[in-house]
Amino acid sequence: MDNQALIEGVYTTTHRPDGAVCRIRHMDTADIVAVVELERACFTTHWPVATYQNELLNPAAVYLVAELDGTVVGFAGMWVSADEAHITLLAVRSEYRRKGIGTRLLIGLLEEARYHGATAATLEVRKSNECALGMYHAAGFVETHERPGYYSDTGEAAVIMWVYDIQSSRYTALLGQLRAGLEERCPPTSSV
Ligand SMILES: CC(C)(COP(=O)(O)OP(=O)(O)OC[C@H]1O[C@@H](n2cnc3c(N)ncnc32)[C@H](O)[C@@H]1OP(=O)(O)O)[C@@H](O)C(=O)NCCC(=O)NCCS
Repeated sequence: MDNQALIEGVYTTTHRPDGAVCRIRHMDTADIVAVVELERACFTTHWPVATYQNELLNPAAVYLVAELDGTVVGFAGMWVSADEAHITLLAVRSEYRRKGIGTRLLIGLLEEARYHGATAATLEVRKSNECALGMYHAAGFVETHERPGYYSDTGEAAVIMWVYDIQSSRYTALLGQLRAGLEERCPPTSSV
């Protein structure tokens, strides 16, 4: 089975109720300028441009972007090492939030993690970040512990989250439910 078949349903184009076309796809070098600008707008600590360039060459890394009518409005990344996926970044431009784009990116990462053989996924999130915590909980992540003072800019604690058994049929069903919820909002119209 090829990659496209395994991740069926993720890389879809959807026509939103407002007529805009939303697409999730792999990031490439031409996206770096837009992604860096988006990252600067969404996070208080930043990666140098060269890090993104290197990450796109890193065989253990997966980066996705969300495009709305051809404009990058979100991006997400992770590393997959052995049977673990570590989500590093996920952001949606503020004016496009709460429209399911973050969830689409997260589903894309998790499907990629499954494809690359991961059985579990983890991430760190600021304790105060209720939006992200809600999104990750919906995708089955649980809070395992905290790292006090993890974020150097504010001294805030990181919440460490994990989701296990992502290869299981139970987890396939959960992703299916998440996707169905999104499709109720914006039915997919074509594969890409
Ligand atoms: C976190 C983030 C990526 C979510 O993106 P999004 O496109 O708004 O996410 P979705 O529309 O798919 O929402 C998914 C769920 O997250 C939760 N959520 C998102 N925004 C929320 C808000 N403002 N208040 C409460 N819950 C919220 C909800 O549970 C939501 O599900 P629902 O809409 O069915 O209730 C976005 O808020 C963001 O870019 N924040 C800044 C960067 C960041 O914090 N990234 C995460 C780092 S770990």
